[in-house]
Amino acid sequence: MKKFTFIGLIAVAVIAFTYCSPSKKATVANLQPALTTYDANVAPILAANCAPCHFPEKGGNKKPLDSYNGASAQIDDVLKRVQLNPTDRGFMPQRHPKLSDSTINVLKKWKADGLVK
Ligand code: HEC
Repeated sequence: MKKFTFIGLIAVAVIAFTYCSPSKKATVANLQPALTTYDANVAPILAANCAPCHFPEKGGNKKPLDSYNGASAQIDDVLKRVQLNPTDRGFMPQRHPKLSDSTINVLKKWKADGLVK
């Protein structure tokens, strides 16, 4: 009986080590904030707020913000302009309300994360 308990304990320990340590790692990884990417986070914001003026396919004739290359090339100017006051010259999105802080933060984080596609 005692031997059984001992073997049982070892089995539980082995199972615990095998299954618990990787899942703990997975939990830690899940807690890390996800990278902000162009495809997942930035493109929808630009499509919702910067079209049609910056979307050549929709007739826009301003510098294009409808692609990764266009948006990443202009990120500094984009960040500067969306943080202006709506009454300032150069404010974007032109003739629209200012973007919310959380939306602007997505654009800032995209740059901080390294402009991931
Ligand atoms: C109603 C049309 C309109 C919308 C919507 C708009 N823009 Fe613009 N944008 C303009 C015009 C017109 C200019 C050129 C005048 C200027 O430089 O201020 C311009 C210029 C710019 C420039 C300088 C480069 C260039 O194309 O001349 C940037 C960067 C920019 N806009 C970013 C944005 C961003 C980011 C958004 C969305 C959050 C946005 N704009 C939304 C009309 C618009």
